[in-house]
Amino acid sequence: MDSNLHVAIIMDGNGRWAEERGWPRTRGHRAGAEAVRRTVEASPRLGIGTLTLYAFSSDNWRRPAPEVATLMALFRNFLKAEAGACRREGVRLSVIGRRDRLPSALVTAIEQAEAATAGGGLLDLRLAVDYSSRDAIAGAAALHQGTTPSREQFRQLLARSQHGDPRTPDVDLLIRTGREQRLSDFLLWECAYAELLFSAVLWPDFTGEHLREAVEAFGRRNRRFGAVPAPTLAAPAGRQASAP
Ligand code: IPE
Ligand code: IPE
Ligand code: MG
Repeated sequence: MDSNLHVAIIMDGNGRWAEERGWPRTRGHRAGAEAVRRTVEASPRLGIGTLTLYAFSSDNWRRPAPEVATLMALFRNFLKAEAGACRREGVRLSVIGRRDRLPSALVTAIEQAEAATAGGGLLDLRLAVDYSSRDAIAGAAALHQGTTPSREQFRQLLARSQHGDPRTPDVDLLIRTGREQRLSDFLLWECAYAELLFSAVLWPDFTGEHLREAVEAFGRRNRRFGAVPAPTLAAPAGRQASAP
């Protein structure tokens, strides 16, 4: 098994999970935080080296103020509660996206969690908060001067424009829970060759077992990156790909 996969997850469906039960949407977000814990715990043994979780998009500011306030408080509580365990277990926690619009107490919690877990080598856990991929791309373009950058140069600028780490690899597998089949402005550049997996499971119901099934399904995909499939041993002579 590949032991350094980058899995990205659009954690969608919290609101509907709660509404289906006649509960306020915020209760779905609380349950969603539990699903995050389960997912992080399951990741290392599935060969995941980088896990990027979409927690709050820049367009989510359009939601009602009380829901936004609950989410901001949840993120802060999560960081404060989990930083110690992440540090002990070797999970490096970081947050990508804009910070200038976040409550200052959340920014402090982000900085403390990042500093406390910076040495972690087991799993790179990235939370995307106030994140917009289009804004990150535009920000990277603004950082660049001169002739067209190479893909590698642009990748590094993109990391800089969103508090990212230039060493983070492209996404291998993108999972979106919650029945919708769209990217909602998440990692548009980084997902250029990601395998996409859309799940009907609402995020609060997502378990380590669902993650295992997703990684197994990813293992059965045939990634070609624009080339032809690698010839298999069983391919009859004369039907193998040849160089141009
Ligand atoms: C995802 O769940 C969490 C955030 C976007 C913060 P939603 O809140 O979008 O849940 P649905 O899509 O309304 O069910
Ligand atoms: C995407 O979900 C953002 C997160 C999961 C954090 P949304 O629920 O905001 O996306 P749309 O509005 O359905 O596209
Ligand atoms: Mg949604």
